[in-house]
Amino acid sequence: MANRENLYTINHLTVEYHTRLGILRAVDDLTFEIKRGEVLGLVGESGCGKSTLGKALMRMIEEPGKIVSGELNFDGIDIMQLPEAQMRELRGSRISMIFQDPLTSLNPVQKVVEHLTETIQAHESHVSDKAARARAAELVDRLGISSNRLDDYPHQLSGGMRQRTMISLALSLRADLVIADEATTSLDVIVEAQFLDLLRELRDEFDLTILLITHNIGIVAQLADRIAIMYAARLAEIGGIHNCFFAPKHPYSQGLLQSVPTIKLEELDLYQMAGSPPDLTHPPSGCRFHPRCPKVMDVCSQLTPTLKSIEPNWNVNCWLYEEIPEHLAADAKTP
Ligand SMILES: Nc1ncnc2c1ncn2[C@@H]1O[C@H](COP(=O)(O)OP(=O)(O)OP(=O)(O)O)[C@@H](O)[C@H]1O
Ligand SMILES: [Mg+2]
Repeated sequence: MANRENLYTINHLTVEYHTRLGILRAVDDLTFEIKRGEVLGLVGESGCGKSTLGKALMRMIEEPGKIVSGELNFDGIDIMQLPEAQMRELRGSRISMIFQDPLTSLNPVQKVVEHLTETIQAHESHVSDKAARARAAELVDRLGISSNRLDDYPHQLSGGMRQRTMISLALSLRADLVIADEATTSLDVIVEAQFLDLLRELRDEFDLTILLITHNIGIVAQLADRIAIMYAARLAEIGGIHNCFFAPKHPYSQGLLQSVPTIKLEELDLYQMAGSPPDLTHPPSGCRFHPRCPKVMDVCSQLTPTLKSIEPNWNVNCWLYEEIPEHLAADAKTP
């Protein structure tokens, strides 16, 4: 059944890659939801599983990867059970993804305009060639590409322009959910600002729901309603931007958000979190963050905490906010 509040419900999702070094669990038992009309920012260090999660939501995990368990419910549709043909249709129409690497996603022998008009007409067959071209021109223009570049081939464009073409392509579908994976990485700040404005406009115009995967926490602060912070394939914390971003509870979130450079140059203080992210083929026991955590307790290396609600719309995965079994509680700290 479709849920009025949640567009996408993810239950106990686990994704693994079979590598030479063993099984690498890149998404480990994730449970959360994407609410209708929201921008959910997804952040976390490189390799923590953000892109894998994005692809899993599209059911696009490829060999040697596999969704090994979990339930995915998109607007009442059981994604895990959907036949591939219907899944393909859904991918083109209702969920679209802007990938981290735009080069691999554009067809080298197709002009920019053909990419766009084909996509538009594939999903809205009544749109005439002329109207589709006009819409394509409007879209690229909103992203700062002059319409006289419409007849260029991908290789004639700069990296940033290709990225913008990809973005226009994803937006031209007018999908319900757009998963933007590092969509602004190769854009300069002005174009990035245009892209963010466009996302805001489209969201208001079409009630777009956006999962925004990014390294740039500043973008999340500007655009997101909620933020999900991932650490080593699990969620550390998820909640409203005003809670999670400005007063994070998880020691990892606190470290990550401290590393955001402040606007004033004289206060520029890049916080370097001690240690490095774990190897996901052999993750640490208990809470995976415990070897790096400034607030580590006995329990942290022994038992895995669960994602607990500490306030409505705010969940934290940390022993500081969960009742510790008595025999391990000796060194319990207060948050
Ligand atoms: N095709 C693959 N085969 C084997 N391992 C993979 C594959 N794709 C991803 N991984 C591994 O899965 C883990 C999560 O990778 P993923 O790309 O999802 O991380 P990410 O958070 O998107 O990182 P980044 O911020 O660098 O984009 C990493 O350890 C990565 O090495
Ligand atoms: Mg990634």
